[in-house]
Amino acid sequence: MVFLLSQKSFVTKRTPLCVARVDKIAVLDFGGQYAHLIANRIRRLGVYSEIFDGAVKAERLKDFKGLILSGGPASLTDQKSVRCDESIFKLGIPILGICYGHQLLGYHLGGKVQKGAVREYGPAKIKFSERKKFFEGIRSVEPVWMSHFDQVVKAPKGFKVVGKTSDCPIAAMANYQKNLYGIQFHPEVTHTPCGNTLLKNFVAITSAKKQWNIDRYIEDILKEIKTKAKNKKVFLMISGGVDSTVAFLLLAKALGQNNVYGLFVDTGFMRMNEGREVAAALKKVGVKNLHVYNASKEYFVALKGIYDPEQKRKIIGNLFLNIQEKVSNQLKLNPKDWLLGQGTIYPDTIETGGTKHADKIKTHHNQVDRIKEMDKQGKIIEPLKQLYKDEVRMVGKKLGLNDRMVWRHPFPGPALAVRMLCTKKSDLPENVREVEKDINAIIRNFRLKAKILPIKSVGVQGDERSYKHPAMIYGKFPGWETLSLLSTRLINRFSEVNRVIYGLSPADFKSLNTQNLYLTKPRVLTIQKADKIVMDFISAKKIHRDIWQFPTVLIPLSVNGKKGESIVLRPVCSEEAMTANFYQMDPKKLKELTKKLSKIKGVSGVFYDITNKPPATIEWE
Ligand code: XMP
Repeated sequence: MVFLLSQKSFVTKRTPLCVARVDKIAVLDFGGQYAHLIANRIRRLGVYSEIFDGAVKAERLKDFKGLILSGGPASLTDQKSVRCDESIFKLGIPILGICYGHQLLGYHLGGKVQKGAVREYGPAKIKFSERKKFFEGIRSVEPVWMSHFDQVVKAPKGFKVVGKTSDCPIAAMANYQKNLYGIQFHPEVTHTPCGNTLLKNFVAITSAKKQWNIDRYIEDILKEIKTKAKNKKVFLMISGGVDSTVAFLLLAKALGQNNVYGLFVDTGFMRMNEGREVAAALKKVGVKNLHVYNASKEYFVALKGIYDPEQKRKIIGNLFLNIQEKVSNQLKLNPKDWLLGQGTIYPDTIETGGTKHADKIKTHHNQVDRIKEMDKQGKIIEPLKQLYKDEVRMVGKKLGLNDRMVWRHPFPGPALAVRMLCTKKSDLPENVREVEKDINAIIRNFRLKAKILPIKSVGVQGDERSYKHPAMIYGKFPGWETLSLLSTRLINRFSEVNRVIYGLSPADFKSLNTQNLYLTKPRVLTIQKADKIVMDFISAKKIHRDIWQFPTVLIPLSVNGKKGESIVLRPVCSEEAMTANFYQMDPKKLKELTKKLSKIKGVSGVFYDITNKPPATIEWE
């Protein structure tokens, strides 16, 4: 992803897994949010993949069967942007360049890269003139996911241009003889339906043997845990979600039940009755040595008068650590004998800016600076930190976790605290009138109207964090396809907007007002009620498994002067949380759900989030 020109350094901090000698494909990380997604996709195809700093020396890559150059936020038109070691092109190994990686092929091998006339951001249609080898098995026109400004304008010698879009004449190119392939679009995201076929083709071209699977991972990680823990015990923060539960089971398997201690902190921001239910469920799946600590008072005090999402996240993460220290003191545990365990998975790390080049999208509760410091001192153990959710679920299944636990929707560590937006005053862009006028001109044809909301939410655009306004559109339901199209169009067109929601209730939205609100108990009760209605509803309608995660968000917005706040429904379909599509609920069901939610005391309006990730993140904060 190249249209944002921030320059960062390029050292991947994470240590790769120790794997026995197997065929491997290397992913060279140039700073894209998806570098790890590429590696994840390759592993899912059965071949082990490892991630390297984009500028890694060719010498270190000579045993690899194939190389993939990732996307990244830099621009090759900037003299200081990262380049690769040119010797990698002399290794004679198949290479696939994606986005910035595609441009690197153009740049290093004698082609030409320059800024495009327009940005291509989001869905695009690509026309392929040839479909063989790397391009075998795809259709002549394919929808793909693009996110770039720069582009290759002259293919290097020996390359054939194989694909183009209306805005990008060299969107795919190949040097078949040397097995070098460049594509401007992203095959690793689910928005590119032919992406997996292309990656499969690349794996076949490398002739890497399929020697990686989840059993092997479990074997390796159990050995690693033993080596890292030596004779120490582990004190694990456990939330009742699939990640920390699987982490607990792995640690207990490697070190023995008596050497692993679970701490469940009830922050006061859990779902209704969740504290009790989680403790019971953990005991049921075999978690012994569980300590439950009720910290709700401490959390409400620490978060009093806090409005900024990142500040909230940091306070929450640090308080988790203070409580862990407090409880270990109470239990008289000698810090020298204990490591702190966490169920951190890969997206938690990458979105907190866990690789030097990646932008910080959000500070995850388990990635605050103090944790990073402890990690440097070797005091943290995170058995799942290389895995994505789908892989964690596979490990959970292998370890005998029941389906109910394995398929629990993910729930963020800061819990409902990041699903309750706080604000001091109405916050609108300066040019709000103009933007609303322009948006309304676009959507008028669909008999819809729009307003910009006087609040902000977090997004991820072109690999970087954004904090911008949601646009709200309302009117007679035009169908999900239309709403989806409009959502993409509006966000691409208006830089003030990073999220679009659709108004479900009331029927008209004459006025929208914000109030000065932070995190308080009455607000928690409102969101808990709404969340419970939503969770019970999707379970009763048997759509729980169709939805990957379903945040119910409370926004400090009263509609048409009606007292109270508003609810936004944010159901998404995803595989690993790095990308997501909004879930398109059956309109009849949605009507039924909206009716139930509108009846909650203190709920003024109900909305539906119609934004994919990117450009919006799943959670609003
Ligand atoms: P976003 O909102 O960044 O979320 O698209 C991606 C996934 O991460 C979850 N999430 C968290 N999980 N600690 C966690 O353990 C956190 O601080 C945190 N913040 C977001 C989110 O629910 C989604 O599944």
